[in-house]
Amino acid sequence: MAQNWQPDSWKAHEARHLPSYDDAAELAAAEATLSAYPPLVFAGEARALKKDLAEVAAGDGFLLQGGDCAESFAEFHPNNIRDTFRVLLQMAVVMTFAGKLPVVKVGRMAGQFAKPRSSDTETQTDSDGRDVTLPSYFGDNVNGIEFDAATRRNDPQRMVRAYSQAAATLNLLRAFAGGGYANLRQVHQWTLDFMGRSPWADKFGETADRIGEALDFMEACGVDPATVPQLQGTSFYTSHEALLLPYEQAMTRRDSLTGEWYDCSAHMVWIGDRTRFDGSAHIEFARGIGNPLGMKCGPNLAPDALLKLLDTLNPAREPGRITLISRFGHDKVEAGLPKLVQAVKREGHPVLWSCDPMHGNVVKSDSGYKTRPFDRILSEVKGFFAVHRAEGTHAGGVHIEMTGQDVTECVGGAVAITDAALGDRYHTHCDPRLNAAQSLELAFLLAEQLRAETVDRRADAA
Ligand code: PEP
Ligand code: CO
Repeated sequence: MAQNWQPDSWKAHEARHLPSYDDAAELAAAEATLSAYPPLVFAGEARALKKDLAEVAAGDGFLLQGGDCAESFAEFHPNNIRDTFRVLLQMAVVMTFAGKLPVVKVGRMAGQFAKPRSSDTETQTDSDGRDVTLPSYFGDNVNGIEFDAATRRNDPQRMVRAYSQAAATLNLLRAFAGGGYANLRQVHQWTLDFMGRSPWADKFGETADRIGEALDFMEACGVDPATVPQLQGTSFYTSHEALLLPYEQAMTRRDSLTGEWYDCSAHMVWIGDRTRFDGSAHIEFARGIGNPLGMKCGPNLAPDALLKLLDTLNPAREPGRITLISRFGHDKVEAGLPKLVQAVKREGHPVLWSCDPMHGNVVKSDSGYKTRPFDRILSEVKGFFAVHRAEGTHAGGVHIEMTGQDVTECVGGAVAITDAALGDRYHTHCDPRLNAAQSLELAFLLAEQLRAETVDRRADAA
């Protein structure tokens, strides 16, 4: 267990990107409410995920982590939860089938609300030409996105509402994962109507046919798929950035079985690129919880700083504890990532390497929208695999912002979304997400890369 650590020891460290609350008593009341609420996950589940991630880190599997950039109160709807879950299942099936590796599924769901902002305040000019300055939008668990003084006030009660939304979301995800929806016999039913227009929907149909045949074959051989739990349902975990520390602290509990502390707001939490500096409040908080941790690694992270952070977060070098999520940008990954991979390999830290091809590839479109060109996303993924192939390490996962909805937020893809079409269905509360068809297209690319890696590995072993 971490030395000299308490759930609130982060308060003595430098905290960036935390909202300020104007009423300390109101904040304390919300924290007290949350502290008395049931945990959303059980520590044993976080340990199960850590074990799965340890296998991936050792080369036996792939991590698929995805969901909203920011969940919102407005988009809270069972259909949205179902559709995101369904696309993640489709992606996982494609990768498992073609890549021949187990896929660990982790949603950016059921708690992914808070966002780091470059400035605490935002200034807009009103209709009389006067400048108005209000708190920036920090995510729905802090304040509202509308630019008016009442909505933008940082309101601690929003944490309580976010907890309820996370609890209901997680409840539905658990029901889908274990209640029959994720049964592999349903694989055809997972196709979304609007995917009919995408060539990748046909390709998914072919994969589904082949899975159906494999199940029929098993049955003909006398193995009833209904008796195989792995075919009846799936494991599905949740994650979010542990940014809003008052919330995370209130959800942190001591596990009755081991006596260790766990952040019971999600199975896995990660530390963002802007809060993972040495001595930060976010690193201090993360080092004491037993959950598997993600950490974003952007272009300004030096190898020595990374090694120091790994020593702080994982002094016992426990496999599955750390997932490093690189997010360099399509044009920087091949130059920047190798030195981090080499340093980690040299020091023998057991990490899972995952690729976030989203956050280094944001551009402003001619039509004024923040977007991500799909070809740059694919190109960063290819670069990530190329680096790991060259270094002899396992390209272990992907971390994406996506939705099951038919949105128009990232340009490109097989059903090409043009710059001019971005305004049609641009719904995100923060960064642009892949839509369902683009997510599936990415899954086929990942499957191809994984297959190449597996062929290389088998050749090496032979
Ligand atoms: C995010 O994942 O939404 C995010 C803000 O990423 P990063 O910390 O890598 O910028
Ligand atoms: Co984002």
